[in-house]
Amino acid sequence: MEKLMITGGRPLQGTVSISGAKNSAIALIPAAILAESEVILDNLPLLSDVAVYSEILEELGATVAWEGSQMKIDPSSIKSIPMPNGPVKKLRASYYMMGAMLGRFKEAIIGLPGGCNFEPRPIDQHIKGFEALGATVTNEHGAIHLYAKELRGNKIYLDVSSVGATINIMLAAARAKGATIIENAAKEPEIIDVATLLNSMGAIIKGAGTETIRIEGVSELHGCRHSIIPDRIQAGTYMIAAAATRGNVLIDNVIPKHMEALTAKMQEMGIGIEEYDESIRVLGASRYEHVDVKALVYPGFATDLQSPMTSLLTQAQGVSVLSDFVYSNRFKHVPELVRMGAKIRVEGRSAIIEGGRLNAAKVKAADLRAGAALVIAGLTVSEGVTEVTGVEYIDRGYDHLVSNLRHLGADVWRQTE
Ligand code: EPU
Repeated sequence: MEKLMITGGRPLQGTVSISGAKNSAIALIPAAILAESEVILDNLPLLSDVAVYSEILEELGATVAWEGSQMKIDPSSIKSIPMPNGPVKKLRASYYMMGAMLGRFKEAIIGLPGGCNFEPRPIDQHIKGFEALGATVTNEHGAIHLYAKELRGNKIYLDVSSVGATINIMLAAARAKGATIIENAAKEPEIIDVATLLNSMGAIIKGAGTETIRIEGVSELHGCRHSIIPDRIQAGTYMIAAAATRGNVLIDNVIPKHMEALTAKMQEMGIGIEEYDESIRVLGASRYEHVDVKALVYPGFATDLQSPMTSLLTQAQGVSVLSDFVYSNRFKHVPELVRMGAKIRVEGRSAIIEGGRLNAAKVKAADLRAGAALVIAGLTVSEGVTEVTGVEYIDRGYDHLVSNLRHLGADVWRQTE
């Protein structure tokens, strides 16, 4: 087992380049199986979740060639094979195989997904969507069985603006008969990225990025080449780390528009932000004001940055309140930050954070973004060594984390236990 060792207290300085978005990549890879010929994905992040997804596609008979940040997926020899166990269990986003397989074969057997279980994460809206398109969906011994004689477009109103359900319905509907309309669709940039890929494959999808998405089904999709959007959560994590260490960092290969909710909050705290076409500079200061933050669906403050933001708010003067209206109980980082001396209490959906100094401690990442929060906290502590275990979670969402941080001047290394 590996752990991350951090001696903090050094302001991060320099430039970090952000890789492609994890939450796009793990939807784009399954989307490729809807095509009849080769799909090339560029700007892919080098992450364990991406590797698991390539295993899933290979299990189905697709040819996957992954070199650096490019993946070539030839789905022409893919077969409909039940996947109740195996790699699908390792990954929460394996639920996209349901929509993709249903769209391609009108049937699928997929084991219920694993992944970061910071709280129960239902998939009822995905299933409601598949059923509206004409599929029968049953749960048999922990695997979801989906079958449709024919998929027919329909109007689907999502009870919650779910990223996963919106994408999954787009995947299933792209090759259905007739038009599908998703109302109260999620608006995250990753949804636009998936729609862009599907449209390049010959699909007809309009309105992605708004709350109404219209999909005109087509009978066949073809291969294409697509470059994945930059990872806004990775970018936000480095922005927060730069500020928490009172550094000066240029975050390169970002879409500043995607970062607006975070940049607004950071400016409110007194952190300097300079925006360029494809980069953002974060200029730390000696004193930060407390702020209140509400994590909401996009374009609101991202729930995935809620945990890293908690660490930053320990560095502000006074009391900040950080509430998560997407997940009610995503606070597994809090007890660990408290072990590092943070004054935080959780009340309902909110963490109440009183600014103050942290100290080095041995802490455990219980999920991906909790891990990022602990690394940021460790980077602020100059005395002693902070040890973060649960690195396998962090590796799910941050490629080259150690080398990137070292390049920015941090004293961080991996150690095998
Ligand atoms: N929800 C339902 N029913 C559903 C689906 C969702 O009640 O059928 C609820 C969830 O419980 C949650 C809310 O709706 O309260 C939003 O969930 P959503 O479906 O949007 O989340 P997701 O698609 O499962 C993706 C990301 C998450 C990110 C959320 C919110 C992937 C693979 N995961 O999850 O990313 O937190 O959107 O933006 O894309 C991460 O990267 O660390 C991560 C957890």
